[in-house]
Amino acid sequence: MATKAKPAETTENIEESALKELFVDELKDIYWAEKHLTKAIAKMAKAATSDTLRDALTNHKSETDNQISRLEQVFEIVEEKASAKKCDAMAGLIEESEGIVEDTEDGTLTRDVGIISAAQKCKHYEIASYGTLRTLASTLGYADAAKLLEETLAEEKKTDDLLSKIAESTINPKAKKEKK
Ligand SMILES: [Fe+2]
Repeated sequence: MATKAKPAETTENIEESALKELFVDELKDIYWAEKHLTKAIAKMAKAATSDTLRDALTNHKSETDNQISRLEQVFEIVEEKASAKKCDAMAGLIEESEGIVEDTEDGTLTRDVGIISAAQKCKHYEIASYGTLRTLASTLGYADAAKLLEETLAEEKKTDDLLSKIAESTINPKAKKEKK
C-alpha cells in the first residue's frame, strides 16, 4: 500500500527555506556554466571564419566576464560563498560545440553556421536559467539580486537576437553555396 507523503515542514525564515537552498544550487550551476562558457566562446571565436562572427563572439567574451562578476555580487547579497557546481547541461553543450568545429572545414561559412547554432543553444540554456533565478530572487525577497539577474537575462536575449541576425543576414545565404 502506498504511504502518503508527509506535508512539507514550513518556515518564515528565508535562511531555513528549502527554496533558498534550491536557488543557491541553481546559482552555483550557472556560475560553473558561465565560467566554462567564457573559455568555450574564446575557442569558437578562434575557429570562426567570418570577422562578423568572430567580433560578435569576442565582444561576448567580455560580456560573459561581466556576468560572472554579477553572479559573485548575487552570492554576496544572499550571503553565500561564491562556488561553482558542475553543470552537466552546459558541459554537454560545450562538447557539442567542439564536435561541430571538428566536423566542419576550416575557413568555411558552414562552420560559422554550426558555431552560431552551438552558441545559441548555450544562450537558450542561460536564458532559461536566468529567468528562473531572477524570479526566485524576487520571490525570496532579494530585490537587488533580482535586478542584477534581470540585467544579465536582458543581455543574454540581446546576444541571442544578434546571433540570429548575423546568421540570417549574411552567413546562412553565403554558406548555402558552399560544396560539401
Ligand atoms: Fe552568459
